[in-house]
Amino acid sequence: MIVAKAGGRLIENGLPSDLIKDIKTIIASNKLILVHGGGVEVTDIASKLGKEQMFITSPDGFRSRYTDKETVEIYTMVMAGKLNKQIVTNLQSMGVNALGLSGLDGQLIKANRKKKLIIIDNRGRKRAIDGGYTGKIVSVNSKLIHLIIDGGYIPVISPIALSEEFEPLNVDGDRVAAYISGFLKADKLVLMTDVEGLYLDEKLITKLSVLEAKEILHQIGPGMITKVYAAMEALKMGVKEVIITSGLSSKPISSAIEHKHGTVISYE
Ligand SMILES: Nc1ncnc2c1ncn2[C@@H]1O[C@H](COP(=O)(O)OP(=O)(O)OP(=O)(O)O)[C@@H](O)[C@H]1O
Ligand SMILES: [Mg+2]
Repeated sequence: MIVAKAGGRLIENGLPSDLIKDIKTIIASNKLILVHGGGVEVTDIASKLGKEQMFITSPDGFRSRYTDKETVEIYTMVMAGKLNKQIVTNLQSMGVNALGLSGLDGQLIKANRKKKLIIIDNRGRKRAIDGGYTGKIVSVNSKLIHLIIDGGYIPVISPIALSEEFEPLNVDGDRVAAYISGFLKADKLVLMTDVEGLYLDEKLITKLSVLEAKEILHQIGPGMITKVYAAMEALKMGVKEVIITSGLSSKPISSAIEHKHGTVISYE
């Protein structure tokens, strides 16, 4: 089983057709679950609706959207609506029987709402703010995913979780993909984005161990740091290998699992 995540920058104009062709090859002999992102599109639509987005940075260097009530509504509209349905339509048009759902549907992803967030303010000081509508994932309904796959569909999952109080929560797409791969005991997690993989000092890193990843985490910029962290989470949950790669090449998933492209992260 393979879990693959398509990042937001990759799907700006829909799912690339080369990627869909590759998905067709993969599903001929493997089970596949697709997760998508879409941060840029959420920010764009929110701005068109007159709701400028605010971004916050944690002391560890993680950048995230500040998600208040209005923002989580827009986030849900764009992720579970526009983007998820666009990807499903793209896949269907090329003969892949995709079924789109969010973490809310069938309680697919449950999370605990964060009460407080620690941020670094613009003066560089630590400050605690209200957690808003973001959460820490606690469970994945793997039975539902198996049901969908066994029914002959490819699940396409948007990164929204259900809180204890039954509210939608913004959860990061890379982390969603990590938890799904962990809960389903997937063999591989492939995180596809708009760059070839992890770069350090302008050099592409082709192989990275968890030990090395921990050491260099603080040197990685926003966007990529979340992927490396998600990779470590997935490996900890029992996934054998994580590959961060570009989704814009001709066979993005196949070439990643054959180690022809991207950054391979594993325990050794
Ligand atoms: N050391 C690094 N190596 C490679 N990319 C990096 C590094 N540091 C920061 N980045 C940035 O990380 C970005 C990828 O993460 P980003 O969150 O922007 O996209 P995504 O995860 O594909 O989309 P989404 O968050 O919408 O799912 C790259 O475009 C790159 O600019
Ligand atoms: Mg991202």
